[in-house]
Amino acid sequence: MKSLLEKLSLEMGKAFEAAGYDAALGRVTISNRPDLCEYQCNGAMAGAKQYHKAPIQIAGEVAEKLKELGLAADAESGKNDRSIVFGDVAAIPPGFLNLKVSESYLVAYLEETERDPKYGMNQPENPGTIIIDYGGANVAKPLHVGHIRSAVIGEAVKHMMKYAGYKVIGDAHLGDWGLQMGLVIVGLQDRQPDLPYFDPDFKGEYPYIAPFTISELEEIYPASSAKSKEDPEYKARAMEATHQLQIGNRGYRALWKLIMDVSLTDLKKNYGALNVDFELWNGESSVQDRIPAMVQYMKDGGYAYISEGALVVDVKEETDTKEVPPCMILKSDGASLYNTTDLATIQERMELYHPEQIIYVVDKRQSLYFEQVFRCARKTKLVGPETKLTFLGFGTMNGADGKPFKTREGGVMRLEKLISETKEEMYHKIKEGRPVTDEEAHETADQVAIAALKYGDLSNQASKDYVFDIDRFTSFEGDTGPYILYTIVRIKSILAKYAEQGGVPDRSRLTPAKNDSEKALQMQLAGFGSMMESAIAEIAPHRICGYIYDLANAFNKFYHETQILTEEDPVRKEGLIAMLVLTRDILETAIDVLGFEAPERM
Ligand code: ARG
Repeated sequence: MKSLLEKLSLEMGKAFEAAGYDAALGRVTISNRPDLCEYQCNGAMAGAKQYHKAPIQIAGEVAEKLKELGLAADAESGKNDRSIVFGDVAAIPPGFLNLKVSESYLVAYLEETERDPKYGMNQPENPGTIIIDYGGANVAKPLHVGHIRSAVIGEAVKHMMKYAGYKVIGDAHLGDWGLQMGLVIVGLQDRQPDLPYFDPDFKGEYPYIAPFTISELEEIYPASSAKSKEDPEYKARAMEATHQLQIGNRGYRALWKLIMDVSLTDLKKNYGALNVDFELWNGESSVQDRIPAMVQYMKDGGYAYISEGALVVDVKEETDTKEVPPCMILKSDGASLYNTTDLATIQERMELYHPEQIIYVVDKRQSLYFEQVFRCARKTKLVGPETKLTFLGFGTMNGADGKPFKTREGGVMRLEKLISETKEEMYHKIKEGRPVTDEEAHETADQVAIAALKYGDLSNQASKDYVFDIDRFTSFEGDTGPYILYTIVRIKSILAKYAEQGGVPDRSRLTPAKNDSEKALQMQLAGFGSMMESAIAEIAPHRICGYIYDLANAFNKFYHETQILTEEDPVRKEGLIAMLVLTRDILETAIDVLGFEAPERM
């Protein structure tokens, strides 16, 4: 379906053509003077040189033609004639065409939008598979606020791509193979040295019940990590344990599996609280078996060579303005690295899923790293030109002091705690707002809090840092998740009253707008499809947030200026109700894409 702007441009093009000018000059854009007009066309200015005429003359001729062709209203034509496209046209010096769309044309466009299952969004031609690499949690370490962004943005991007029609696979790409595993292993060994996993002579079956809980695990890691920083010998032990694990030490592998089990259960719970889920819970460990053959392939192809003992692939390019170091494939001791795993993962993804794009939602501080990995993957032909590799780097979530968000005591804020504090704050705000039972208040608060957190994050352009402000994020006013939900709930409650009066809401009964706020709401609704297209093309969830915020504002202005349930003209009442239904449906579609939902009451 064509966007409203495209349609208006086509109609305008007809007038340019009829007046003897190039139809392409008829491009219509949103007005940059909304106080004067809704849309504008600067084609007369653009065409002046080509046609050796004053722009105002061209504009005047085109305005006349619009009327002659019956595309613009003139004194005789009634404004409700459906063939009238522009309700108002004015040629303004030096040569602008200031435009208003006719109410009848707008409502006809909105009817088409309402009938379209994607509300006017065009789906890509042959959507293939997109893999989204997000989450990136590290096993045995608790999720902290740094992980919220990857999870929340990645999940939204996944839903956006799904909405566009792609087959989407989200992969958690867990950090489950690095030094943190060695640190947990030695930390555990020092606490419980008699466990069979540490006995090199043990030949039996290892117990498959974990000798630790998640809380113990989360205690062991930081303690062990702190110790390794002070005690080089201890660190060497942890590195050796990591190495032993990677080369297949039986006891460590068995222990590792238990750490994974306990950790994954906890991760799933935490991600679940954010409504984040992955199709694949793969990790760095999943591709270890592929590494030897991949390394051999890189050597055989002449891509990888030994430099200072390490195996590397050069990835610098002539046009580089900054130094891009070689991509290291194996360390001098033969150990594989974070890179190696990422490359092997790319190889596996290409083999299994032939994706047309892989999107990495990772901290933007890893951007140079991904540049190296992407170049290496292309150079070594693990990835062909038909597959796009995209790094969606995000900024830091900061506290009020502009530094990475911490607990009040100055420690690393755990995601679990952040969520529970936000729920608590939301609960108080809901209790203050209206009389409600504790149980209902908690239930609603839990749902709204997730929206507050997610919207607070998503409404910022991903690459930018933002300040986490619990008071602002949980406010019912302003550019916040709760405000959006509140608007939806308000619509639902009017519709419920309408139903009590015996009305049956019907979205298709739209009627032409009768005043500015109604028209503004209709124009906003008509823009959903083209907004979604650009949000998807730019992988920009913040665009959707910007749109629903404007839509909620347009709706609330309309709501405050309009008698809905007391409207006496039945046709107009149905028209107003239809607008409500469409607004609710578009808002709910948008928040579903962003990854949260609205309660029934608030
Ligand atoms: N575990 C990594 C970290 O905490 C993030 C993983 C990102 N994804 C990837 N394919 N490297 O930094």
